[in-house]
Amino acid sequence: MKYSDFGLINTHDIFTDAIARNYAVPAFNFYNTETLNAIMSAARETHSPVILAVSESALKYMGADMLMGMIRGANIKPDEKIALHLDHGSSFDACTHAIELGFSSVMIDASKLPFAENIEISKQVANHAHKFNVSVEAELGTLAGIEDENTFGTDSSYTNPDDVEKFVSATNIDSLAIAIGTSHGAYKRKNDTEELRFDILADVAKRMPNFPLVLHGASSIPEHLIKIINENGGQMKNARGISTEQLRHATKMNICKINVDSDLRLATTAAIRQSLNEKPENFNPREYLGAAQRLMTQTCIDEIRNIMGSENKIN
Ligand code: G3H
Ligand code: 13P
Ligand code: ZN
Repeated sequence: MKYSDFGLINTHDIFTDAIARNYAVPAFNFYNTETLNAIMSAARETHSPVILAVSESALKYMGADMLMGMIRGANIKPDEKIALHLDHGSSFDACTHAIELGFSSVMIDASKLPFAENIEISKQVANHAHKFNVSVEAELGTLAGIEDENTFGTDSSYTNPDDVEKFVSATNIDSLAIAIGTSHGAYKRKNDTEELRFDILADVAKRMPNFPLVLHGASSIPEHLIKIINENGGQMKNARGISTEQLRHATKMNICKINVDSDLRLATTAAIRQSLNEKPENFNPREYLGAAQRLMTQTCIDEIRNIMGSENKIN
């Protein structure tokens, strides 16, 4: 299927506008109808462009047919500026499969490979994807590993600004994820004073002034959600995200896509724990899943307004 058949667009115009007007487009991960409905409701209420991100494991969880059926059911129109993106594609085949399904953007995540191999596979994906007008994101530098629940990852390496121009021109990718100190999951910082490496971001942006940059592992881990979780039987003691001030600062410096998954996981967990705690006799999933959807919608709206700056940017 062509992505235009689903009302989707690729990221080209979305990023051009984000760079010109100094904001970031949120890429929220989804994996069921509650997450998809929440993201779409927030996009529609705020008139924000949005990137719907699907990891390979989320694709497997939903099943390809169900996933694309849900996208069709969302009744997306091109002027809503919605892209469907494969998050952390691990191989050429994973990317081509997503393109065949109707994704409008793919990430090839080969950043753990040696530089030359990362170039080779990213170039191969870009060559193929561009034949279908699909956008390609690749990554230089590695984020701390995806945590197993609550450990700090250690295997990170910052992006080397000296590599960026060569990588982008050799691969012909459309956007680049850079590593400046963010990490996946809910345990990103040991204390509130840890700063992102804005010097690296500034250096990259100076060398490539109009090139779209992407921040992974950028959930802010809202304190009020952690509080609800911990007050209702959860145990997420040292959860800490990237501060909203630092994220906003990044949006002014060529970061035009900010990836958020953990914050919606927290909203779901908080709402379900609270709902069941307040009404232990309830066994109707639509009550607690409905509460989860509402809290995710509010979380997306808050972040679109207070972090991304993407409200009212669809025209
Ligand atoms: O960056 C990774 C995302 O949080 C996706 O995680 O593979 O568990 O869906 P997942
Ligand atoms: P978080 O774990 O910070 O939400 O990061 C999500 C992400 O980078 C998805 O690609
Ligand atoms: Zn990521």
